[in-house]
Amino acid sequence: MTNFHGSDLEKIEAAYGIKKETIINYSSNVNPLGLSSYITTYLPQKIELIASYPDRDYTSLRASIGLYANANPEHIMVGNGSTELISLCIKAVSPKNSVIIGPTYSEYEREIKLTGGSISYYVLNEATRFKIDIESLKSYLSKDVDLLVICNPNNPTSTAITTKEMEQILKYCKEKKIFVLVDETYVEFSDSIEDVSSVSLTSHYDNIMVIRGVSKFFAAPGLRLGYSVSSNSELHSKINSVKNPWTINALAAYAGELMLQDTDYINKTRNHIAAERKKITALLNEWDFVDFVEPDANFVLVKSLLPEITSSVLFYKLLKKKLMIRDASTFPFLDSYYFRFCFLSSEDNDFLMKEIYTIMTENRN
Ligand SMILES: Cc1ncc(COP(=O)(O)O)c(C=O)c1O
Repeated sequence: MTNFHGSDLEKIEAAYGIKKETIINYSSNVNPLGLSSYITTYLPQKIELIASYPDRDYTSLRASIGLYANANPEHIMVGNGSTELISLCIKAVSPKNSVIIGPTYSEYEREIKLTGGSISYYVLNEATRFKIDIESLKSYLSKDVDLLVICNPNNPTSTAITTKEMEQILKYCKEKKIFVLVDETYVEFSDSIEDVSSVSLTSHYDNIMVIRGVSKFFAAPGLRLGYSVSSNSELHSKINSVKNPWTINALAAYAGELMLQDTDYINKTRNHIAAERKKITALLNEWDFVDFVEPDANFVLVKSLLPEITSSVLFYKLLKKKLMIRDASTFPFLDSYYFRFCFLSSEDNDFLMKEIYTIMTENRN
């Protein structure tokens, strides 16, 4: 059976003859509010920007990111989505032995494999509610490990470690000469960014790079804009020596400046996601046929407790109703009963919850 990802709507259309425009996509983890009105209003007026090269140093964009993320612009790099920065950081560290905290997003493994480094996983599991135990992680990090990758909040578990816990990890890793790559793609959706983000730690520790992007929170995956924060100037020089110039086009750079200033949009998004997260988890708590871990981000990982309803059965039953969730059994370490969905509009969320309830209760033995 083919497995589909959040951005695979074209493949679904071809395989099932369901028009992609009619599918409600709960698997992409993108903010349901759509683009900031600053973009739709002001970006079209700036079309002439493509008549010139962008600023090679992206000074104005980095200053806007600095204000938004509370970081020193000197410590900021920008890239073609967080994907480019993940790739550049891993290439620059060029790890011999890396540890990834999993189950997680698959790109880290792909990139590390490309550099020829070995990978082992520190596995989060159901028994510990997918939470990291700092002491056991420390003992897992053997002497020859040189890179640790953490997605925080993590995709697909939606769990997060706190800034305080991250500091303990960083301190230990600093002693052991381990570089830590932290992917914060989903951090702005969490209830308290300050208690989860590691950006504030970058000015005290130079063995960390935090990576973020605008694809999910600002609903702009087609823009391809990401940024990183690190105070490690040696790492920056290494990256700059291999990085292509102008990988962010002039319109994307300007769009980034616009959206990061839209505080109304930012607050609306945070309030909406927090309210939906609360509503959905309250409902999931009432259902005895699922288990789930408390989500920090804008999506939730759920486990079907009905032997006859695997995640792929649920996926196809929902797809017939033009609702697309993520069958999370394709993530390593998750069994065939895990599925993930993101929070969309209140109405769409209620609809999905109603359909899941119907499918699961009708098929219950
Ligand atoms: C954890 C995580 N990091 C990075 C990305 C890719 O982000 P970008 O579009 O900024 O390259 C994704 C996309 O799904 C993701 O889930």
